[in-house]
Amino acid sequence: MSSNYDYKLDHKQLTQWYKKNQRALPWRENKDPYRIWLSEVMLQQTTVVAVIPYFEKFLKKFPTVQDLAQAPENEVLEAWAGLGYYSRARNLHKAAKALAENGFPKTAAELLELPGFGPYTSRAVASIAFGEKVGVLDGNVIRVLSRRYGLKLEWWNNKGRETLQKISDELSLLGNADVVNQGLMELGATVCTPQKVTCMLCPWVNTCVSREKNLVEKLPLKKPRKESEVWVWKPFVAIKDRKVALVKNDYAPFLKGQMIFPGEIAMEKNKPKDYDVKHNITHHDIFIQIHSKKSVSGKNIEWVELKELKKVNPSSLLQKVLHKVDI
Ligand code: ADE
Repeated sequence: MSSNYDYKLDHKQLTQWYKKNQRALPWRENKDPYRIWLSEVMLQQTTVVAVIPYFEKFLKKFPTVQDLAQAPENEVLEAWAGLGYYSRARNLHKAAKALAENGFPKTAAELLELPGFGPYTSRAVASIAFGEKVGVLDGNVIRVLSRRYGLKLEWWNNKGRETLQKISDELSLLGNADVVNQGLMELGATVCTPQKVTCMLCPWVNTCVSREKNLVEKLPLKKPRKESEVWVWKPFVAIKDRKVALVKNDYAPFLKGQMIFPGEIAMEKNKPKDYDVKHNITHHDIFIQIHSKKSVSGKNIEWVELKELKKVNPSSLLQKVLHKVDI
């Protein structure tokens, strides 16, 4: 199916468009793999506009991969605070230690071995920083390719992904993979957007299959949504001498292994009538019923200075709970 298309022409049009229309972004200033890697990890969390200030601040604090490798983990987490998904920051730190020691490998296959490097990040870094001719697939690229070639694919399954990956690879093989990959991302971010598409600005306006078949709004197919689970969390909040009691979380299905309030948790069918505050973490709707305690006991309790809490666990969930408690 895909071999009927003139990839050479598509490649040429995309490349020309990107060279003229790319945004000046801080991670496009040079080919430093550390900067490119950092930008790709941050961009998995949120939009370009939201990432820029975090990116600048993080680099000021840790200008090189060596600086990052040598930093204590809590400082890395603190610089990450607000971006969410702290496991990404932990993996970034772990990978930095390996990279500071052994240098940056230049291929996606080698990068894939490092903590936190999945297929997307490995391919993005290898192509953008080192010019390896490998295609990327992220949300933007999936949308652009599905529409351009009119593909009704279940892109969330292996088979659908493989089809799209082949096209992305094929386009990358035709020239400069850095330009092709970032061109596809840029097209998806600025022209071929989820809503309010501006087809007249697209280099592929005359050949786009979904435009011709009036399928632009129907593609890519919608991934069936996973129902959120309702959890009722009863954190026991004990504060004494400006210190708060925490445990290493081995009981709640979110923030696993991190320091949180001791307490109880249960999954429920419906949301409870009464709760103090609500929080969402990937597919978990957490309804929080705060139990203020004079004290808590147990051998795993750690008393942490209130002013250090953000460093110990920067998740906004704990701050939200504390705001509701009279200290
Ligand atoms: N999203 C993910 N990576 C990107 C990049 N390099 N440029 C713009 N948007 C992106």
